Amino acid sequence: MSPSCIINQPTAFLTRCGASDRQLFKLHLSGGFGGGGSSNANKKVSGKGSQKSSSGKKMNPRDARRANEQLAERYGGDVRRGTQERILSSLESLDPHVREAAELYKVITKFDALVAPMTPADRNRLIPPIQSQMVDDERKKLQTIMEEHNISERELHNVYQRITWDASADAKAIQADIVGNAMKPELQGRVTKACEIAVQATRSEFALGKVLDVGCGHGAIVRSLVDAGLSEPDMYMGIDLSQIMINNAVDRYGSARNGRTGKGRHFVADDFLTHDFGAGGMSVFDSVIFCSALHDLPDVEASIGRAASLLRSNGGKVVIVHAQGAEHVLEQHRANPVMVKRGLPTSKEWADILKKHNEWGLALEYDPADPKSARDMKEGYLAVLTKDSDR
Ligand SMILES: C[S@@+](CC[C@H](N)C(=O)[O-])C[C@H]1O[C@@H](n2cnc3c(N)ncnc32)[C@H](O)[C@@H]1O
Repeated sequence: MSPSCIINQPTAFLTRCGASDRQLFKLHLSGGFGGGGSSNANKKVSGKGSQKSSSGKKMNPRDARRANEQLAERYGGDVRRGTQERILSSLESLDPHVREAAELYKVITKFDALVAPMTPADRNRLIPPIQSQMVDDERKKLQTIMEEHNISERELHNVYQRITWDASADAKAIQADIVGNAMKPELQGRVTKACEIAVQATRSEFALGKVLDVGCGHGAIVRSLVDAGLSEPDMYMGIDLSQIMINNAVDRYGSARNGRTGKGRHFVADDFLTHDFGAGGMSVFDSVIFCSALHDLPDVEASIGRAASLLRSNGGKVVIVHAQGAEHVLEQHRANPVMVKRGLPTSKEWADILKKHNEWGLALEYDPADPKSARDMKEGYLAVLTKDSDR
């Protein structure tokens, strides 16, 4: 059997279940955005594209038409196809060893996700031994490349994250401009609630006045944070792996300046897990918010540990929100385990994680709804962790 045939084997299993690669990316990109925007903010921020708006107001039809034309032009006439082409072209431009490792990683991850829920009996019945043997061989091959080139699994996960979000960033940002950066009202309400909690933490006795937005995308929740009362721009830092997301965020929200300090919002294109927060005086925050983002990071536990290390003691908060809810994220994981490695932690999982990492000093203040529960449908996913002790 040729290597490419081996590589495609597990994908073929998934395809039979009805999810081609193209569909997988489409599915992942179609949901889970924070939106933002409300009616009381209507200042137009000028960017390079004259019809851009971060105002929370829907564009007028003429500007919307021009924005749509601009979008179509950037994506070669069809946004979906254009996004896919950007993804494929970025994958092709990777260094050959990274590309090979990324391909192997994809195959192995899909296979592992496929067999994970199976009982040993089902696995024996459904997966031919030769299939498992091939994947094990691929695993060894990947291990060798990773050791030889010092590449970690997280980096391979990030390759797919970066490439996918870079490819869709312009479209997401322009589409958000067209609708005034707004979600459906019930979803927006969930994001608003999370932003209010994050901003509230900047106001208490020990507060420093700083919010960190992890996986900030094109600045989707900046307006919601401002509406929640985060009035001084230099109180905000947004970090995202995708440089193109950050370019869009800076273009839309970076121009605001604090009259008192003269400083503006701080946007950084980098990996949250490895970024040096010591630089630029932004290393301690009152709250760290993950809006539709935690599930995209390669390691939930490490991400929360990192957030805890950046929080002030005595009431600093980690806020995790996903407006569409826990079940929606699980669907994304089932459809594309390469991009979404797992679902969001349930309250039971939070209890275990926090017990294991007592050193973080975090306590679960607001329990998230379980997937498929009535509360998940009603509220979406919201978890709030508070740093209580002086650690
Ligand atoms: C679903 S989007 C959400 C964007 C935005 N928060 C929103 O609500 O619309 C997830 C974002 O997380 C970013 N991301 C993924 N892994 C990351 C990492 N390791 N560090 C920082 N950002 C990351 C992606 O680039 C992407 O823009």
